[in-house]
Amino acid sequence: MRYNYAAGEEKVTPFSPPLLKGDIGRLRIMKGISIIIMAAGLGTRMKSNLVKILHPLAGMPMLAYTLNLSKSLRPEKTIAVIGHQADKVKEAFSGYDVKWAIQKEQKGTGHAVMQAKNALDNFSGTMIVLSGDTPLLKKETISKLIKSHKSKGNRVTILTTELNNSYGYGRVVTNANGKVERIVEEKDASDAIKKIRLINTGIYAFDKDFLFDSLSEIKPNNAQGEYYLTDVIGIAAKRGLEINAVKAGDSDEVMGVNTRLELAKAERIIRRRINERWMLSGVTIIDPETTFIDDTVEIGRDTIIYPNNFICGKSRIGEGCTIYPNSRIIDAKIGKEVKIKDSCLIEESKIGDKASIGPFAHLRPHTELGRDVKIGNFVEIKKSIIKDGAKANHLTYLGDSVIGRNVNIGAGTITCNYDGFKKHRTEIGDNVFVGSDVQFIAPVKIGKGAIVAAGTTVTENVPADSLVISRTKQISKKGWAKKRRRQGVY
Ligand code: UD1
Ligand code: CA
Repeated sequence: MRYNYAAGEEKVTPFSPPLLKGDIGRLRIMKGISIIIMAAGLGTRMKSNLVKILHPLAGMPMLAYTLNLSKSLRPEKTIAVIGHQADKVKEAFSGYDVKWAIQKEQKGTGHAVMQAKNALDNFSGTMIVLSGDTPLLKKETISKLIKSHKSKGNRVTILTTELNNSYGYGRVVTNANGKVERIVEEKDASDAIKKIRLINTGIYAFDKDFLFDSLSEIKPNNAQGEYYLTDVIGIAAKRGLEINAVKAGDSDEVMGVNTRLELAKAERIIRRRINERWMLSGVTIIDPETTFIDDTVEIGRDTIIYPNNFICGKSRIGEGCTIYPNSRIIDAKIGKEVKIKDSCLIEESKIGDKASIGPFAHLRPHTELGRDVKIGNFVEIKKSIIKDGAKANHLTYLGDSVIGRNVNIGAGTITCNYDGFKKHRTEIGDNVFVGSDVQFIAPVKIGKGAIVAAGTTVTENVPADSLVISRTKQISKKGWAKKRRRQGVY
């Protein structure tokens, strides 16, 4: 299933969660851990009509990364706080096991977390708070956060990191002993505080009772007039509680995506991670910088991928394939040792082992190619079954058709499948030879082993093993051209 939801599109394609190890059989739940995901904001800095968390990122909507991370942690409960375009968001993730809490007005991150309170009535333990706009975060980092939170026994643990350029983030203010005192947002920061490089990643572990207790004390007296979740840290410090800070090893991982510049930066990092994963599992990627593989794709070992390919959606590529430059492959199931020559578009199609496609071929949805099939230059195929060993090597359109085993389709063959009202089928039996420049006026059936002469327009069914030819008789007028030229006409 491809994800290409764009701003202004009315229909939402639901994005289904991946199957994780342990999904089948008995689930092991992490007792005493629940997760809140803050995702109600519009994402004003994206300057988009589409809510930020639905923006595509390496083939998945941004929020899918945080939802998948939550799923992999197996908490007791996952509550996602949504608001802007909530119906679209719910529909996009209808396959996920998550409780939605609605924040009608976006009054800040503290206010967002408060909206999750009711859904957590029967829960006590540790709350992990995540943001929907931090898609690069890894499971190991959250595990480290949980482990430290539990072992220190503090009420609050914040995940921090140090950045050379900390612009835009909440700065972590520490006292003379290095203990965390409070977090100050960019817009509320003095010049001295702006110089602090230690930042709040917006990812926390809280004791649940402490969290909701202190949230009831926060006030929106700051530059943005919002209820800041970060004020809970200051409250903890004032109460004399120690605040535990865990540093994320890799600052890329905790990057928040707020603008399209950051969206592109996150996309690059995700793509690099995906490519590294495939290279380490035996796929040759000639230039990882210009190879774009969605997270939802699978690739067999010894496959070679040349630059400038886009492999998208639920595509499955077998072992030992070669994908030459410049193709886009979407939701395709490709067998073993298949060659995709330069510049093809392949959508929702199945391709058998050892087939060869392209250059410049277009396989449209519901195309099924058997073993050893050859589809060549400038061939378009739609909703057709092409059986083992069949060939259509040049300049052809095959639509709504079944092409039998070892059929040869000559250059320029067209299935005329559309009469202006309805689509009709063309069925061609095994071992048929179709010469060049043939039109099949569908619906029409060609029996096994027939030969269709070049230039024929086939309007009626053809019996097996026959020759079919429809041409006007050729006339050659001797000397005619020379005479015309002498008259000065040509
Ligand atoms: C927040 C933190 C900041 C931290 C940064 C890390 C606060 C006040 N600031 O700032 O310290 O350095 O994250 O990335 O928490 N949201 C809601 N409802 C709201 C407001 C926000 O659900 O009313 C959601 C947003 O959709 C987003 C997340 O909370 O997913 C963070 O909000 P955002 O406005 O991006 O906060 P930052 O300014 O990045
Ligand atoms: Ca943010």
